[in-house]
Amino acid sequence: MPYSQRYWNIYEKRIQLPVHEYKEKFFETLDKVQCMTLVGETGSGKTTQIPQWCVEYVRRESIRSGMKRLVACTQPRRVAAMSVATRVAEEMDVGLGQEVGYSIRFEDCVSDRTILKYCTDGMLLREAMNCPLLDNYGVLILDEAHERTLATDILMGLIKEIVRSRHDIKIVVMSATLDSGKFQNYFENCPLMTVPGRTFPVEIFFTPEPEKDYLEAAIRTVVQIHCCEETEGDILLFLTGQEEIEEACKKIQRQVTDMGPDVGELKCIPLYSTLPPNLQQRIFEAAPPNRPNGAIGRKCVVSTNIAETSLTIDGVVFVVDPGFSKQKVYNPRIRVESLLVCPISKASAMQRAGRAGRTKPGKTFRLYTEKAYQGEMQEQTYPEILRSNLGSVVLQLKKLGIDDLVHFDFMDPPAPETLMRALELLNYLAAINDE
Ligand code: CDP
Ligand code: MG
Repeated sequence: MPYSQRYWNIYEKRIQLPVHEYKEKFFETLDKVQCMTLVGETGSGKTTQIPQWCVEYVRRESIRSGMKRLVACTQPRRVAAMSVATRVAEEMDVGLGQEVGYSIRFEDCVSDRTILKYCTDGMLLREAMNCPLLDNYGVLILDEAHERTLATDILMGLIKEIVRSRHDIKIVVMSATLDSGKFQNYFENCPLMTVPGRTFPVEIFFTPEPEKDYLEAAIRTVVQIHCCEETEGDILLFLTGQEEIEEACKKIQRQVTDMGPDVGELKCIPLYSTLPPNLQQRIFEAAPPNRPNGAIGRKCVVSTNIAETSLTIDGVVFVVDPGFSKQKVYNPRIRVESLLVCPISKASAMQRAGRAGRTKPGKTFRLYTEKAYQGEMQEQTYPEILRSNLGSVVLQLKKLGIDDLVHFDFMDPPAPETLMRALELLNYLAAINDE
């Protein structure tokens, strides 16, 4: 069948993405090596384009070998897996769930024809339990590897084993802000491909004094930007969770509406992972038009960390970063795991700031002092595996047939005490026995 008009419309945009120029080079590298890492600025086209190239690769391979193999691309978040699969199905001009599908917990949207599957990292791990060598796959793409989720970390360990016994599989590790040296070392000095982004300069502002109430400060800052900034462009505010986000949206909306028609229209859009998908799609809606008196209409997305790298929102020019996110922490002494609002890392702060320069030069307002940034914030967020109760991880590893936990090749090995606590717990629950 001929391609639809929509296909060609999207195609125009696809060939302008920064990754596009690297296609030849990507294939050359993929032909030569088994593992590679790829780093590219958010929005450069990694998640949507690279898996399609890999489909071309497995198609070619299948002609040569006669074996049909799939491409899997993992995402740390369900939202991202679903929305990206939808987009790529459109890009390839096929129905979602046909050649391109997704697989997240409790929802499998794939068919016999599926050749490209976006899934959460947890789902691929689950699959590995039934099929330890993941024989169905010709290429595995670990996306957003810098997030270092529990599942991604375990997958990386498994993949190292798989690569040793399956010479016909290719691994691509992708990320926006990869500590690339670390990943390259881990995968036996695999080559690194860097795609320079096309981002615009971002001016960064700190507060002169620490803020007492970051939520209040965040709302005030958004309203000020909306009223006083003279450039057109949307606002992205990072907050920590659903309740806070909904509250902020209401307050911002109310304050702006109360200011009357001298101020432009503002459309506040919440974004968090438990929001239903149809409401999540609202972040792609256009900003309200300017008023006849010239007052600028904007959209303001109030989001959790999802908007840090997983989803690209075009049109953002102002970022408000209070410097917090919800993180899991685990104390093995008292065996308590909790979700706490914690200061983010410098790497996170840099990533957040970068979101402002996607379409034109932007501004980022950090609601903390420069001193706190330089002196108090840690360089990188600790990987989840160092902050979690490992009960289910250990059980999964056992199920995967890995007996020697101590020598399992973790990128960052968890503390022995945490492993001990996990074994102890599983033993109490009679999930494992003394042997
Ligand atoms: O993964 P990466 O951050 O490198 O970028 P991507 O997710 O592949 O997105 C590349 C571009 O595709 C974005 O800049 C958007 O312009 C576009 N896109 C879109 O229009 N709608 C989507 N649902 C996803 C991406
Ligand atoms: Mg991506």
